[in-house]
Amino acid sequence: MTTARLFSGMQPSADSLHFGNYAGALLQWINMQETHDAVFCVVDLHALTVPQDPAKLAENTRKTAAQYIASGIDPHKSTLFVQSHVPAHSELAWLLNTVTAFGEASRMTQFKDKTQKQGSDNATVGLFTYPILQAADILAHDANVVPVGEDQRQHIELTRDLATRFNQRYGPVFTVPEVTVMEGAAKIYDLQNPTAKMSKSGESPAGILWLLDEPAVLTKKIKSAVTDTDNSIVFDPEHKPGVSNLLSLLALATGKAVGDVVASLSGGGYGALKGEVAEAVVAKVAPIREKTHELLGDPAELDRLLALGAEKAAATAEATLGRAHEALGLLPRLH
Ligand code: TYM
Repeated sequence: MTTARLFSGMQPSADSLHFGNYAGALLQWINMQETHDAVFCVVDLHALTVPQDPAKLAENTRKTAAQYIASGIDPHKSTLFVQSHVPAHSELAWLLNTVTAFGEASRMTQFKDKTQKQGSDNATVGLFTYPILQAADILAHDANVVPVGEDQRQHIELTRDLATRFNQRYGPVFTVPEVTVMEGAAKIYDLQNPTAKMSKSGESPAGILWLLDEPAVLTKKIKSAVTDTDNSIVFDPEHKPGVSNLLSLLALATGKAVGDVVASLSGGGYGALKGEVAEAVVAKVAPIREKTHELLGDPAELDRLLALGAEKAAATAEATLGRAHEALGLLPRLH
């Protein structure tokens, strides 16, 4: 039996990844790289769907790769690369654009969410077609599984639809992937606004736990998290979103089940809960921050690792692109 292929990625669209990225995606990646042929991408082209400062984008691309490695991704065991280093992704995205219905692209809720405030008139077409580039990322690598947080589920479902449609029309070119959303980590919420997901573009700076925050900053944010007034520790996301989010954080940071965490907390109230969450999150995040800074101290070595990854990734993606060209009847170029 061949090992299943895993593909996933994150945008380098902020100075740091946050605990939602860690819990919803990275934690799964680290475990699954042991049992899968894993491919991890820093999706810099996706970040361009909203304006980016060029110098910052380059810096954040390296920073994102460094945070993958610092969290436990092994660039020798897995393939780790930058999306724009493998042009086959963009070329495949064009081919997939031609089998995507305008209506189906219009139903993507992330585009709707992101354009809710200002309306879609000034949003870029790139933001609109973003999920099609995501589908290209996944299909280029013949991925069987795509571990992501809950907010990405619809994009993976679109990927499945596009792959199935293409295969039906033109022959079996693409592998149809499964979605892998981890129970309990699928959605981490903003500490100040616990009904909104923790997000790089979140409105309250105190609500986001950045992986590169100093320990004292993480502790302060956790201690100021919004809870409620009845001081009872119960996991009930609907009625007690703030407390439930803290319990999820504690479970994820300690590797325990939420039920066990609740049982171990009898008494003490919210103050004690926050203290435990802060301690556990800092214990998890501080080493990642330190290791990230260490890796960023040697950018040439980081770039060398990314070049190695791009070479491996290009071989797979170009082969897939070649199959798609042939199936579509694009005339082969003589060399
Ligand atoms: P991005 O960069 O927004 O997020 C990266 C990963 O983090 C997860 N995530 C969360 N999980 C739990 N709670 C949260 N609050 C939270 N916020 C983010 C996301 O679900 C994601 O898994 N479109 C993708 C990037 C992408 C991609 C791909 C992913 C491009 N091509 C191919 C998988 C496969 C994105 O913007 O993720």
